[in-house]
Amino acid sequence: MCGIFGIVTKEIQNLGPILVGAGERLSYRGYDTVGAATIPQEGVIDLRKDAGKIQEIAEKYNFQDMSGDRAILQLRWATFGAPSQINSQPHLDSDGDLVGAHNGNVVNNVELREQFAAEGMIVRSENDGESCVHAVERYHDQGFEMVEAIRMATRDLEGDYSFVIGKVGEDRLYAIKKGSGLVAGITEDLTCIGSDLPSILPITRNILRLNDGEIITIWAGGYEITSVEDGSIIKREPEIADDSMEAAQKGGFDHFMLKEIHEQSQVAGELLHMLDNSPDLNPFLDKLAGARNIYLIACGTSYHAGLLGSVYFNQFAGRAAIPVLAPQFTAQYGSSVGPEDVGIFISQSGETKDVLNAIKTAKEQGMGILGLVNVVGSTLTLVSEVYLPLTCGYEISVPATKTYSNQVLALLYLALRYGGYNTDALNDIPKIMDRTLEEVSGQIDRVVNKLTGWNDLYILGYGLTYPVALEGALKLKEITYTHCEGMLSTEFKHGPLSAVSDGYPVIFTVGPDDIPLIVSGINEVTCRGGHVIAIGFQDSRLEGNAHETIIIPEVDVPEELRSAILALLSVIPLQILSYRCSLSRGYDPDFPRNLSKTLTVD
Ligand code: M6R
Repeated sequence: MCGIFGIVTKEIQNLGPILVGAGERLSYRGYDTVGAATIPQEGVIDLRKDAGKIQEIAEKYNFQDMSGDRAILQLRWATFGAPSQINSQPHLDSDGDLVGAHNGNVVNNVELREQFAAEGMIVRSENDGESCVHAVERYHDQGFEMVEAIRMATRDLEGDYSFVIGKVGEDRLYAIKKGSGLVAGITEDLTCIGSDLPSILPITRNILRLNDGEIITIWAGGYEITSVEDGSIIKREPEIADDSMEAAQKGGFDHFMLKEIHEQSQVAGELLHMLDNSPDLNPFLDKLAGARNIYLIACGTSYHAGLLGSVYFNQFAGRAAIPVLAPQFTAQYGSSVGPEDVGIFISQSGETKDVLNAIKTAKEQGMGILGLVNVVGSTLTLVSEVYLPLTCGYEISVPATKTYSNQVLALLYLALRYGGYNTDALNDIPKIMDRTLEEVSGQIDRVVNKLTGWNDLYILGYGLTYPVALEGALKLKEITYTHCEGMLSTEFKHGPLSAVSDGYPVIFTVGPDDIPLIVSGINEVTCRGGHVIAIGFQDSRLEGNAHETIIIPEVDVPEELRSAILALLSVIPLQILSYRCSLSRGYDPDFPRNLSKTLTVD
């Protein structure tokens, strides 16, 4: 996720304060690099950009003084190309008379850059935003006018994105929406576009929402929408937005956590696109194939993803991948690993001190370092021999949700590819996630009511759902301040069963292959008065034995993937349950007490 903003005004004026204001409002979408450009009627584009946060870069390059009647701004959440000045957006075309910036991912970026260079264009960065500019340049140089050139460029640019582009000597900007957010604002004196409503609201509430597959041409006080598909003009009137600024920032959701839960399907789609096209995938897999032992090393939620990944590697790749809590790595394996071994370090932030400590040991022992990480440019990306980005964009709420799901999905993808499986069936996952979210949401409130008054409970899972039980329990603890323990269901009878009393809540996450075993576990609890909630695919054995069920919609995937995908999906009801329990207890799920999003301390 990145943020773009563009503006066209009637008069030449000082645009700096407008750009900085929009940048500050977009900063939640990316803070790796920032850039701004003003585009003159004649002369040279004024382009200022660098790695860093908006306040820092705006001050360093004096954005406040930028003037003109057209400008573009971009804030970057790095995916393609490290956060550096050269990879910062906006980007120029070869001659320097087009300038553009994007939000999203162009997944065939690597091959496009090679094509552009072979065609004689000047490719300056590794960033996929530059590919958007050259793709337009390619057709504009052949004589196509801008809108037509953009239409043709979209056929070359694979992935989900929106971008804005302008040309010296004109009085307009052009922007396209294909999978990423884009909104326009129109007043008598100016027209602007932005990645989201908050970037525009303080300028105007006269808003035009763009749909995927639409190009908008904007000039001061006016606009025209063109269909990418057939080039026809689309008529649409602006509307008055009555959203508050805070509501707009949360995309209409009450909390960032809920917004991020709902973003899971979109970022899953982006991850799959990225993995299908990543030049780093094969080197990553080659390192694994050549390793004596593979370790999956992480903390907290990321560790739970690693734990599930180890089951996937066993099932689909026939390889042991040893999950380790990062702070235990030195104690458990520090003296026994060596250059023949490889660690996949999994982290949202890429800065968790416990993970970096484990990397230090791994490096000292000469071990191979691979990364699965959301924040590109983080320490983990710098020290990894090869890393794969999680493409989740900024996760604001402290409880990790979308980054967990993409970690799990990435590990499933890697295990399947390692084992020689086709990954096409995974392409349905975004749709399946949306359906799951929709169908389970209505089933959660009665469970929330059942948990009222209980400050102690268990979530149990087995095999593929054991890591899900741990993750669900972590989410509940983290944002409800309740003691909730995740456990292997078969371990429950070895001690914790004694906690069960009348009405004591126990949640089972149930994989389709484990039902007979889980039914025994359920009965061990119910016969002692415990209250059992089962989460799984619809099955009369669960309905007949548990007090309540939360049903995950059936999936149409090859049989060997059914349980693996159930495990990926079954965290969704637990995320929603934790969220609603947190609200019912009067807490703020986004910012739980005593915790911080990135733990850079021992
Ligand atoms: O940034 P990381 O993934 O390395 O962070 C590790 C844990 O601190 C993190 O997963 C934590 O457990 C979650 N925020 C909990 O929701």
